[in-house]
This record gives sequence, structure tokens and C-alpha cells, in this order.
Amino acid sequence: MDRSENTSGMAKSHIIRITDQEFTTLANYVKDNYGIDLTKKRILIESRLTPDLRRHGFTNFQQYIDMLFKEKSETEIVNLLNKLTTNLSYFMRENEHFNYLFSQVLPYLERTRTNRELRIWSAGCSTGQEAYNIQMVIDEYFGARKAHWDTTMLATDISMRVLNKGQKGIYTADELKDLPANWKSKYTVALPDGTFQIIEALRKQVIFRPGNLMEPFNFKKPFDLIFCRNVMIYFDEQTKAELVNKFYNWTAPDGYLFIGHSENINNLRTRYTYIQPAIYQRRDGFNAH
Ligand SMILES: C[S@@+](CC[C@H](N)C(=O)[O-])C[C@H]1O[C@@H](n2cnc3c(N)ncnc32)[C@H](O)[C@@H]1O
Repeated sequence: MDRSENTSGMAKSHIIRITDQEFTTLANYVKDNYGIDLTKKRILIESRLTPDLRRHGFTNFQQYIDMLFKEKSETEIVNLLNKLTTNLSYFMRENEHFNYLFSQVLPYLERTRTNRELRIWSAGCSTGQEAYNIQMVIDEYFGARKAHWDTTMLATDISMRVLNKGQKGIYTADELKDLPANWKSKYTVALPDGTFQIIEALRKQVIFRPGNLMEPFNFKKPFDLIFCRNVMIYFDEQTKAELVNKFYNWTAPDGYLFIGHSENINNLRTRYTYIQPAIYQRRDGFNAH
């Protein structure tokens, strides 16, 4: 280690500063292509990205930006986004959603989806906990009746790294600590290295795919349930409004949108009907009762 560095991180003098122009170029690019608002993250950009600049042998941010634009390397851009945002996810997160899913939504969908198909999307799924949690709730609700239902769901994220982990469905004991003990024994198997894998029957129910929420959506059919929780925290109001509008267009007439409890979309003048904190329903053409 260089003498001027300390053990807790890089010495201030080693941080490469970003100019106003470089900052604007980078922030606009990330916002236009990924919806992520970096305007308040200038210091973070300098401290978190300096090691990447050094790794490439760059001495200023312009060289790094030129590389991003020229190579249009997904890996490098997603690496950048990962450094500035968080992929944090955990089981039983915002459990009120899963309770509502079990007690209200699934009984309603069971009554109304006569083709016995549920269309579900975990948008911004990170490492898969949300998707598997949904599948556990579905399994608990339907029990033996599940054999008659198609509940295969989609899980998307921009980061391949998190998608790979989600697809494997392998978690440490610590990552599973919030899961009820009976769910842990029912829905995971212990591996020789001390980790646990989600059982195959559940893994088969989740299709992990790369997907950028800023790009146009193109699916075969609309969704009964869209979970987009703790993703929009990084987006500015306009980006959020556009995304929620796109979600609305891809929600089945009486389907639901679940967002994170810290994300408020009431002020976006959304067409969704507010149901309870962080739960919305598309109600045009609604004939539930
Ligand atoms: C904090 S995690 C939330 C995971 C999960 N939904 C939950 O609530 O536990 C946010 C995820 O959103 C993803 N993300 C951010 N911007 C995205 C975009 N434009 N398109 C797709 N995924 C995005 C990130 O890669 C990250 O994995």
C-alpha cells in the first residue's frame, strides 16, 4: 500500500476529480439510458469510480466516459451502476405485501382467472429473493391445487451478476435468516458447503432475464401482478411517472402493482387506484364483485 493511503480507503489526494462538464455528460447518459438520477452523487462517483479509472490506466473522467461511449460495454456500464446503487434484497422484505397477496390477491385471482394462468413479474429482481418469496406464498396458498395452475413468473434486472445468483437460487444461512423455519425446510435444500438452494420445483417457476426498465416493454400478454419494489428510489419524478405509466399499460385490467413502501407514486397522477400503502390496482374495466 502506498504510504499516503490509509487502511480505511483511498487518501483524498488520490481521488480523481470529475469536472462539471464530465459530470453532466455522465449523469445525463445514465439518466437517459437507465433512469438513474446521479445529480446528488458527485462525490460518490469520484470516490467509487476512481479505482476503475486507475484499473484502466486513466487519469481523468473524460477518458473513462470516452471508453463507455465507444465500447458501449454493458459490463462496464452495469459495473458503474452497481457501484452507485444497491442490489440489496432479502427474504420477507415488506412482508405486508406477501400477507396481502395471500389473503386478498390470490383468492381474487383464483376466482377470476378462469384460464388458470397467473402472469407475474418481479421487475428489478436483484438476486431473486422477491421472486422466490412470491412463489413460496403461491405454493402456500394453492397447495395441491397448484398443479392445475400455470404460475411461472418473470424476473428481470439490468445486472447479469445478480441474475446469475438469482438463477442458481443459492443463499447463505444468514441470507435465509428471515424466512420462517418451516418455509426454510420446505423450500430449500442444504448443500455440502453449508449454503442452501431453493428447491428445484420453485426454481423452475422463475424465469430470470436481463432487462432494462427504461427500454420499451414487449411481452405477449399483460401481467396480473407487477412487483417493482425498491427500484424507483433512484429515478427522478419524470422517469418514475413514465415507468409507472408503462407498467399500467402492461397490467391486466384488474391486476396489481406493488412498489417499495418508501416509494410514493400518489403525486404522479397515476391511473392506478391506490389500495393500501405501496399497493395499487388497475381498475378500468374492473368488475371484481
Ligand atoms: C435494491 S434492489 C431491489 C430488489 C428487490 N426488488 C427487493 O425489493 O428486494 C434494486 C434493483 O433494481 C435494479 N435496477 C436499477 N435500475 C434498473 C433498470 N433501469 N432496469 C432494470 N433493473 C434496474 C438494480 O440492478 C437492483 O438489482
